[in-house]
Amino acid sequence: MSMQNDYQKLINKLEQEQDLSDAEFATLLACHDEDGLEYLRQRARAVREKHFGQDVYIRGLIEFTNYCRNNCYYCGIRRENDHAQRYRLTTEEILNCCETGWQLGFRTFVLQGGEDAYFTDERLVDLIRAIKKRFPECAVTLSIGEREKDSYEQLFAAGAERFLLRHETADKAHYESLHPAEMSYTHRMKCLQALREIGYQVGCGMMVGSPGQASAQLLQDLRFLQKFQPEMVGIGPFIPQHDTPLADQPAGTAAMTVKLLAIIRLLLPQVLLPATTALGTIDPQGREKGLRAGANVLMPNLSPTTVRRKYALYDNKICMGEEAAECVNCLARRVASTGYQIVTNRGDHPTFAKRSQ
Ligand code: 5AD
Ligand code: FES
Repeated sequence: MSMQNDYQKLINKLEQEQDLSDAEFATLLACHDEDGLEYLRQRARAVREKHFGQDVYIRGLIEFTNYCRNNCYYCGIRRENDHAQRYRLTTEEILNCCETGWQLGFRTFVLQGGEDAYFTDERLVDLIRAIKKRFPECAVTLSIGEREKDSYEQLFAAGAERFLLRHETADKAHYESLHPAEMSYTHRMKCLQALREIGYQVGCGMMVGSPGQASAQLLQDLRFLQKFQPEMVGIGPFIPQHDTPLADQPAGTAAMTVKLLAIIRLLLPQVLLPATTALGTIDPQGREKGLRAGANVLMPNLSPTTVRRKYALYDNKICMGEEAAECVNCLARRVASTGYQIVTNRGDHPTFAKRSQ
């Protein structure tokens, strides 16, 4: 038997114990050794296949409003971006997106939007009820930012069962460097805690390669994930948007994002882990690379093509002109190239799956 190299030992330890020391995580985060990285991806695939087989879950993303009261320095729909053309979809338009999605095999709809005051609790409750009434077998995921606990409770009671709220970075000082003073790291963390207490399947996640991020910040992100134990983790490379204060900053890399996907798979074996559009934007093969490194979810866009361009969180976003059906066909081919397959089901987290059947 050949001697295991040091990276392999670390990777085996992470797989077996779902934990490493700070120094060991730092070593892995700094790994550029191609054999070590291939072993990491291979173990991440093995763990993913143990829990999910060859299945890839799809979520239909509906970008229903790009109005936002926030002013995050990295984001193209920040309040102070006067060049953003603002839009809101009507209930009817949203239901049409769901209908298209249903026909294409989607059983989860993700309502994503900026923090838009128009969408009061009452309006969102009506919207969620309308979707659940027409598509009772489908899961509704919300990705609508920070609200009060009472609001999250009402939306949960209306039928939304999952919530995505990226923590962006678990380092408070780093969070404050990416957001204006009016935004609070503590409030974001409180929101995540509230969502968890209410009973949502919760997704968090960070940008990879955001300005000022180093290994120390990523280590804090991993420690946060380990402690919070989210059901989903959405990560993607930071990509500059030309109308934001961070326009001139370098983008994050596909390599670092893929490495983190694999580490997260070993850290949280059963987690739902998307290969994101941002990863597909920074590298034409990014989503496939993600799927080959432990990712098991894709979130194609169901938004009407008329508004796609207006939801420009970052530059050069892919799939701007493609209809939903075109993206599904494109993804089916891409997924097939990895040996996996898209499935038509809700794709709940394993610990929630039994409850929803
Ligand atoms: N680059 C990459 N990701 C971004 N997001 C927002 N702006 C950017 C950007 N410039 C991500 C954030 C947010 C999610 C909806 O999109 O992580 O939570
Ligand atoms: Fe949209 Fe490929 S996924 S064109």
